[in-house]
Amino acid sequence: MQAIAQYQQIIQDYFTQISLVKQPKNLYEPIQYILSLGGKRMRPVLTLMAADVFNADCKKALPAAIAVEMFHNFSLVHDDIMDDAPLRRGNETVHEKWDVNTGILSGDAMLILAYQYFEEYEPDVFRDLAKLFSKTALEVCEGQQWDVDFEERSNVTIPEYLKMIEYKTAVLVGAAMKMGGIVARTTKQNCDLIYDFGLNLGLAFQLQDDYLDAFGNPETFGKQVGGDIIENKKTYLYLKALQQCNPYQKERLLQWFAMQPEDTTDKIIDVKELFVATKADTATRDAIKDYTEKAFDILNKLEIDEDKKELLRNFGEFLMGRNV
Ligand code: IPE
Ligand code: IPE
Ligand code: MG
Ligand code: MG
Ligand code: MG
Repeated sequence: MQAIAQYQQIIQDYFTQISLVKQPKNLYEPIQYILSLGGKRMRPVLTLMAADVFNADCKKALPAAIAVEMFHNFSLVHDDIMDDAPLRRGNETVHEKWDVNTGILSGDAMLILAYQYFEEYEPDVFRDLAKLFSKTALEVCEGQQWDVDFEERSNVTIPEYLKMIEYKTAVLVGAAMKMGGIVARTTKQNCDLIYDFGLNLGLAFQLQDDYLDAFGNPETFGKQVGGDIIENKKTYLYLKALQQCNPYQKERLLQWFAMQPEDTTDKIIDVKELFVATKADTATRDAIKDYTEKAFDILNKLEIDEDKKELLRNFGEFLMGRNV
């Protein structure tokens, strides 16, 4: 068993050692660029960790882990186009640095590259990984479509929101972990439990992403703070604020979210003020804690050593405390 930083190092070493740039440069350079910006590498770390937890050599899970990270980066490049985001990991987004067409095609190539990593596995493992991956990737697309559809809707409910973040974010976290279980050839029951653990952690993770999008520190967050407010995203913060506001606050919130002002400074300030005044911020923090606890409860059902549960718990705590 290793510490989180050591798993991150394995992923980091892999990406430094391979060269992805070939002709045509405009296809491959953006791929190299986005991957070189790093990020937390949380999903591939979880794949390696899960393999370890089920007593396999975590290096055996490296191709699956890289596939998951490649897919994640593909989804970010396309997500940034869809969300009109200028910043990613403290740097220009791909479509800003190059252009939208480049972002689309480089993203497509990354999706294909992700699948190719599964070719390193023997046929039965390959089949299980590819099957899980295809199902997950399609769900991510469904979640992303809901996210975009909700921008235009004013009657989104909290259960609808939860379904949307389950699909756009949590299923990939669950799948990343289950892939470690598949590579380790653990039982179906263990695979399902680790998937559920990841799914709940993923829900907490997206709630925190929403929270940080509004309340993160612009110096360290690496993305445009207030981006979700600008785009009228129906986040947990927004939906809770609507639930917990007085009529005057409701009018203000609805008005801001029916607008796309040229200058967004006042909108961001006022909406954040409303999130705090309605205690939507603390409600979001509570929900993050609840989903993390739910993930920890699932750990108790796993048939693994106590020190391994501890490692997974530590990772959950680490995620809850993050500010990037
Ligand atoms: C961002 O994911 C997209 C979400 C699903 C919230 P991360 O926060 O894991 O992004 P990086 O890879 O660390 O930059
Ligand atoms: C992204 O959700 C989910 C996927 C990329 C599939 P967000 O749009 O909230 O992610 P960020 O905040 O841009 O990283
Ligand atoms: Mg986005
Ligand atoms: Mg998005
Ligand atoms: Mg976000």
